[in-house]
Amino acid sequence: MLALRTFLALLSLNVVSAMVVIESRPAAPNGFVSQGPAHPSDTLTLRFALAPNNLAGLQEKLASISTPGSSEFRQWLLKDDVKAFVEPTTDTVATFNSFASANGLTPTVISPNGDWVSLTMPVSQANKLFATNFELFTHPELDGTITRTLSVSLPNELVGHVDVVHPTTEFTDPNPSLVSPKSFIPNKRDTPTSCNTSEPHGTITPSCLQDIYGIPTSPATQSNNTLLVTGYVGEWAQAADLQTFLTLWRPDMSANTTFSLVEVDGGLDPQNPLEAGGEANLDIQFTVGIATGILATFLSVGGNGTNAGFATALLDTTTYLDGVDNPPSVMTTSYGSTESSFGAGMVSKICDRYMALGARGISILTASGDGGVRGNHDILGTYDENDFTPVFPATCPYVTAVGSTFGFGPEVAINFTGGGFSNIFPTPLYQTAAVATFLETIPSDFAGTFNATGRGYPDVALQGRAFQIIIGNGTAPADGTSASSPTFASIIALINDRLVAAGKPVLGFLNPFIYSTGSAAFTDILSGHNSGYTCPASSVSTSSQHWISSLIFYEQVAFDAAVGWDPLSTFSCLVPLEDSLTLAV
Ligand SMILES: *[C@@H]1O[C@H](CO)[C@@H](O)[C@H](O)[C@H]1NC(C)=O
Ligand SMILES: *[C@@H]1O[C@H](CO)[C@@H](O)[C@H](O)[C@H]1NC(C)=O
Ligand SMILES: *[C@@H]1O[C@H](CO)[C@@H](O)[C@H](O)[C@H]1NC(C)=O
Ligand SMILES: *[C@@H]1O[C@H](CO)[C@@H](O)[C@H](O)[C@H]1NC(C)=O
Ligand SMILES: *[C@@H]1O[C@H](CO)[C@@H](O)[C@H](O)[C@H]1NC(C)=O
Ligand SMILES: *[C@@H]1O[C@H](CO)[C@@H](O)[C@H](O)[C@H]1NC(C)=O
Ligand SMILES: *[C@@H]1O[C@H](CO)[C@@H](O)[C@H](O)[C@H]1NC(C)=O
Repeated sequence: MLALRTFLALLSLNVVSAMVVIESRPAAPNGFVSQGPAHPSDTLTLRFALAPNNLAGLQEKLASISTPGSSEFRQWLLKDDVKAFVEPTTDTVATFNSFASANGLTPTVISPNGDWVSLTMPVSQANKLFATNFELFTHPELDGTITRTLSVSLPNELVGHVDVVHPTTEFTDPNPSLVSPKSFIPNKRDTPTSCNTSEPHGTITPSCLQDIYGIPTSPATQSNNTLLVTGYVGEWAQAADLQTFLTLWRPDMSANTTFSLVEVDGGLDPQNPLEAGGEANLDIQFTVGIATGILATFLSVGGNGTNAGFATALLDTTTYLDGVDNPPSVMTTSYGSTESSFGAGMVSKICDRYMALGARGISILTASGDGGVRGNHDILGTYDENDFTPVFPATCPYVTAVGSTFGFGPEVAINFTGGGFSNIFPTPLYQTAAVATFLETIPSDFAGTFNATGRGYPDVALQGRAFQIIIGNGTAPADGTSASSPTFASIIALINDRLVAAGKPVLGFLNPFIYSTGSAAFTDILSGHNSGYTCPASSVSTSSQHWISSLIFYEQVAFDAAVGWDPLSTFSCLVPLEDSLTLAV
């Protein structure tokens, strides 16, 4: 029998709760400057990722339904099938709820699958409960401050039940848009003379892409097959600019063809020419203008100018799709930030949600980044000269990352193409042979530093230079993997249209197909090189300098295009679409 020693002895046993660090970083990434501790009484809303009940089961299921030859190939799951894998167990929910109520807090479920909940509390309480030290940070490209901490811990009782607390250690690029629009002149029109961007005046219009890749101009017929274009950080798509674009470059289509709009988390889409976004306009013009007859939805995600940040915007996107019964068959994202800026917990969580969307038959495409082997826009010179810095979401093995080429006869890899290897995700099974073959081509005295055990990216590449876009009713040739991803999305959406018309399932998660039987639909790009770039930190302060500096490349150790897969340009889809279709069907 045990006799109670003292009341205080019992109390001290209760209050001592071991803390386990779940994420920390030695310092904020370059560019973020601490302005001191956050005020203790400031209010914080933290999001908690509850552990899914059977993530491995979903992973296994997806491998099976996305791998050619499997008996359940392309038998995509329904919304509730996915939920059954990813919702937390009742034990996890009960544990979290009792932790919250013991601390006087009320959880709010913020995702349809119940895997994310939020708690609102003062900074002082957050610092105590999660052993954080929240500070205010500024950044030259940020209006105002964000509240972050360099380390976050969980009390013992939540370990195994909570995977991530957000936003805590995440410091993503305040401007993750990947397009590099050159200066544009309102109401000025260029008259493109050549589609060959190896030539000085070569410019890409929709008809160029239709010619180069054999993309049909005839409209799609399946109205339930739609395409989603994501929009972040106050990038807004303009209907009037789309109309001008279609009048000029798709005279065979109705100039009234427009996109539909979904606004989440306070996202907007004001139609003022001065607020036209280069990225948003590029993405909408080269989806509506290529995926003829397919409804494109512009998903404007809010959070711009708040504490939210890019990682939150990516989460909000998947949360939206998790709740939609009939999702689009393709999603394209032309934004990215250095993988390490998210923190390992966040990239894994976001990537798992792309996995869940892939299992529902959605092809998730992302631009591979415009900083060569050196991250997104490492304008602040954050990294050592030969440190390769991968970009997320391109590094997620469940997205199809799209790089850029230019010219034709032959098509060449473009030097800004983001490419390399993840430091978080290991090489996925579908890619191991391709990556191993590439690694053999690297010279033994290769001076660059990269993680040869990581997921290699991009997966495909296509044209990405001098896309003729309309902004504020003027023209602007735009470069970037942000041009390539919407184009590839449109091709996939058109193939899906033909598949649905034939009573077949859509392409869904593409990578196991692309790296096996699907590779026959692609042309191997054999020349080109991706670089890194540098520029002095002092030269950067405004967004326009951001773009200018992103175009200053310098030759450094990086990757060359090779036979077979390589981390910059492999597999441009140069085979006519009708042939790709034959392969897909
Ligand atoms: C689209 O509609 C067709 C015909 O009504 C149907 O067979 C198919 O399952 C639908 N596809 C989706 C993705 O809803
Ligand atoms: C937020 O959107 C505005 C455009 O309305 C833009 O000027 C600003 O740079 C955006 N902020 C960030 C952090 O992207
Ligand atoms: C486009 O919209 C305008 C105004 O609503 C209308 O007058 C015109 O007939 C439409 N054109 C086509 C081709 O649908
Ligand atoms: C495109 O231009 C380049 C550079 O002038 C040239 O070498 C190539 O042959 C051209 N391609 C075609 C198909 O004419
Ligand atoms: C390299 O990538 C693996 C995942 O493939 C990861 O576990 C490891 O930590 C990475 N190494 C470095 C130095 O980032
Ligand atoms: C946009 O440009 C087109 C072609 O130059 C012109 O017809 C149209 O009136 C312009 N629209 C606006 C709103 O300025
Ligand atoms: C990258 O390509 C651009 C455009 O052709 C060129 O101006 C620049 O010099 C190239 N940089 C490197 C490092 O090859």
